[in-house]
This record gives sequence, structure tokens and C-alpha cells, in this order.
Amino acid sequence: MFNCASLFAGIGGLCMGMERAGFNTAWANEFNLDCVRVYKDNFPNSNIIAGDIRELSVEGNNLAPVDVLHGGFPCQSFSAAGNRLGFEDERGKLFHQIIRLIEEFGEKKPKMLLLENAPNLLIGDDGEWIETILTELQLCGYWVSKRNCLLVDANKHCGLPQRRERLFIVATSQDYFLDNPFDYNFDVVEKEDIQNFIELEEVKEDYYYLDKDNRFGSKLNEDLSKKPNYSLSQLRKTYVRPVEYGFCPTLTANMGAGGHNVPFLLDAKGLRKLTESECLKLQGFPETFKLPPASEMAKGKIYQMIGNSVSPRVSELLAKLIYNYLSENLDENRLAV
Ligand SMILES: C[S@@+](CC[C@H](N)C(=O)[O-])C[C@H]1O[C@@H](n2cnc3c(N)ncnc32)[C@H](O)[C@@H]1O
Repeated sequence: MFNCASLFAGIGGLCMGMERAGFNTAWANEFNLDCVRVYKDNFPNSNIIAGDIRELSVEGNNLAPVDVLHGGFPCQSFSAAGNRLGFEDERGKLFHQIIRLIEEFGEKKPKMLLLENAPNLLIGDDGEWIETILTELQLCGYWVSKRNCLLVDANKHCGLPQRRERLFIVATSQDYFLDNPFDYNFDVVEKEDIQNFIELEEVKEDYYYLDKDNRFGSKLNEDLSKKPNYSLSQLRKTYVRPVEYGFCPTLTANMGAGGHNVPFLLDAKGLRKLTESECLKLQGFPETFKLPPASEMAKGKIYQMIGNSVSPRVSELLAKLIYNYLSENLDENRLAV
């Protein structure tokens, strides 16, 4: 069995995909204590270190060397929807912490890396951001180039009824491998029916329904009442955004900020937003995934962490390729011990 470790673990979307592919998670790091709570509830045997990555150190935290280090580093400063300050932003600078930790492993650097971020990272700042990242990884001893920057979409490549394209950078260690063959074109798969993800027949508690006097209520009603059941619509800051039937709009961390971006549907009781469990399912998490009860965590925080997560269906797709690659290539191509 191969080991992996997770930086910026969130609630464990990447970890879940890695574990489904057969990896054992040796340790993980995350500084948001709500995420840590949810992570622990769902990965009870894991060693998650709660704290800022800037305080994490291989020696100080006794971090075990791993076969694969993965990390979905914060994307707000690189995303098209964010401030686009890149490495000028404190959150953008966190990428350098990954490099610092890899270097701290010395001769025991991870054999492979899997990094996740927003697709805009590939083109932002006229390509300077991705050049910086690739150059730093190469200087650390990894085979990686633009060919190994893979765009994977939760809908197109995994069948979820949510368009959610993310960038994955796969790097292989020059100490263990002769090259980096990760330049796949993923197969396009059939989309699953949105009805399997939404509990339309079940009337929910009042919290989920839009106030009768909400100023956007009539616009949402107008949009949804002329569409088939299971249609979704989204309240943006100042307008209602219609959504193609059969799809859920991309779920984002903004869902936690007052609930405005949580998609709405129309059921027998009125206009209601998707529940946290529906959002989890639409992200590809299994129904067995545990969320804290409302008495222990504000719903806004739960929506936010769901919107921030990597879809386990997407991470599983990549994790299986990485697992197979390690199984087939590690021994014969191994150059260093
Ligand atoms: C995009 S989310 C990660 C999603 C996660 N990798 C997954 O698989 O679902 C980024 C995470 O980085 C965490 N984070 C941001 N700044 C951090 C820091 N300085 N130290 C540790 N974690 C941090 C956030 O709390 C957030 O959970």
C-alpha cells in the first residue's frame, strides 16, 4: 500500500479519492477548526494536524515521508472569480509553503505530487503564475511541465450534474522516475440524472425556505415555476441566475456567506435552498459522509466547507491513475533509495 499526506485538507475531498484508490493517509494539515472537526468525524483513524501550514515543519511535527503529497492550495487569489492578486496575496503565497515542506524532507521527498487549484491559474498574469509554480517544482527535483497540468471537470469526466472544472498538477520525482507521463485526455462520461441528488418529495424545515417577503422571491418564482421539477436557480448579489435544466450551478465557498449563492428549487412548500446533504451529494460525497448537527455548527460554515471541497469523484479518478503508475513503475525505474 502507498502512503500519502494532505496539505490544505479541508473536509477531505482529495483524501477520500486517494483512500478509495487504495492510498493510506499518513497525516494531513488544515487550519480551519470546523473543517478539522468534520475531517476527524469522517477519517477517524487519520492523523490530522490542526494549525497554520506556516507553523508546520517536518521535524517539529514529526511528519512521515510519503509516496504522494497532495494539496489543494487556496485558490481565491488565482481564480477568475477572486481578486487575481496571485502571489501578491497572502493566500497565494501559501503555495511556497508546499515547496518549503518538500525541501524539508531532504532525501526523503515525496515521490509524486498532486496539486489542485482553479483553472485560471493556467492563464493568469499572462501565464506567469503557472511558470513560477512549474519552475519551483522543477527546482525541487520534479518532472513537471504544462503537459502535466490537467483540467478535470466533475460533470464531463465524472458524470455529476454540476459543471466544476479544476486544475490538477501532477509531478513525478526525478529521483524515482525517468519522466512524467501524466498528460491524459479524460473520457467524457454520461451525466447522471439530477433527480438522484435532490429530495424533492421531502418537505424540509423552515430554515431552508426563502422568506415570503424576500425581494428576489418573485424573480425566483418566475424563473422556476415555468420549468420542470428539479430545476434549480441561483440568487446572485443583485439578480437571479437561471440554470440549465438537469444541472446544479457550481457550488462555491460563497454559499456560506449568508446563503445567497446556495441554489434554489421550488417544492410543495415554496422556494427552498438545497440542503447541506444535497450539496454534499452534488459534490460527489457519499451519503454516509457525516456532518455535525445544527446545534454544534452553523449551517453557513457547513455550506462554505462543502463549496470549498474537491469532489471525491474527481480526486478518485486521478488517484487511481497515480496508484497504478506507482505500482507499475516505482521499482523498475527507481534511481535513488
Ligand atoms: C480549497 S480548500 C481545500 C480543499 C481540500 N483539499 C479538499 O480536498 O476538499 C483550501 C483549504 O486550505 C485551508 N487553509 C487556508 N489557509 C491555510 C493555512 N494558512 N494553513 C492551513 N490551511 C489553510 C482552508 O481552510 C481550506 O480548507
